[in-house]
Amino acid sequence: MNTILSNNIVEVRKLVKEQKKEGHKIALVPTMGALHAGHASLIKKAKEIADFVVVSVFVNPIQFGPNEDFDKYPRNMDKDKKLCEELGVNVIFAPSPKEMYGENSSLNNNELTYVCPPYNVVDCLCGKSRVGHFDGVATVVMKLFNIVQPDFACFGQKDAQQLFIIKKMVKDLNLDIEIVPCPIVREEDGLALSSRNAYLSEQERQQAISISKSLFYIKGLFERGISDVSILFDSAISVLDKNLNLEYLEFRNYSNFEKVNNASEGTLVAIAVKDGNTRLIDNVIL
Ligand code: PAF
Repeated sequence: MNTILSNNIVEVRKLVKEQKKEGHKIALVPTMGALHAGHASLIKKAKEIADFVVVSVFVNPIQFGPNEDFDKYPRNMDKDKKLCEELGVNVIFAPSPKEMYGENSSLNNNELTYVCPPYNVVDCLCGKSRVGHFDGVATVVMKLFNIVQPDFACFGQKDAQQLFIIKKMVKDLNLDIEIVPCPIVREEDGLALSSRNAYLSEQERQQAISISKSLFYIKGLFERGISDVSILFDSAISVLDKNLNLEYLEFRNYSNFEKVNNASEGTLVAIAVKDGNTRLIDNVIL
């Protein structure tokens, strides 16, 4: 499969326009590269539902805080391109920060028009410790939508808050794009796939198993009739490896993002921990 690699907005626009003229449906898979089996599942879904698949590979500077891992975030375009070729991706759009934002591409970019999701959905969970993160995500995703003009866009359920925010943006701003959520892909021992897993030492990798274990424990208890969030919370904490630093473990209504005291079917249980220096997130829907 001949996958076109482009770092140019005008070129990608032209390639997509040609396809649209033929009546072809376009799917976009936005990524930050370092592609793994989780991304592959998004790409496979995109291939299933559309005629022409664009994968964006862009480590977006404006969604990283000043003390976060922008510089060390794994980048491997050769490997990413190979995987995209194997999966039949039509175009990889891999712009430079300058192509996307011009000269001034840091988080404190006062020159840029941002898309800012509402306070109540960004000032919680990951947004509490990652101030400005979801403004950066919403802004870059909006830009990618405007450049690629896809019919579908595939996002992983692992970033549950991101997915909620993107769906809300699409609804609130009347974008004519179908957001396609894709299930979390896990290692055999349950660890959710993430590009950041590459940072883990052997011991940290071992400790990380308890993250999904604690979520599955909650799910099991819920299925046996326990819905009191304080009981579910304490039970999960007892399963979590003591060397992990818990940032949050929260129960939220996944249709309006409000906190719940009593879990019910469809409740989002989301967790973030620091495992050594690496921040890991995971979730289950009850
Ligand atoms: O989930 C990600 O990899 C990123 O947040 C996204 C959606 C590609 C925006 O940079």
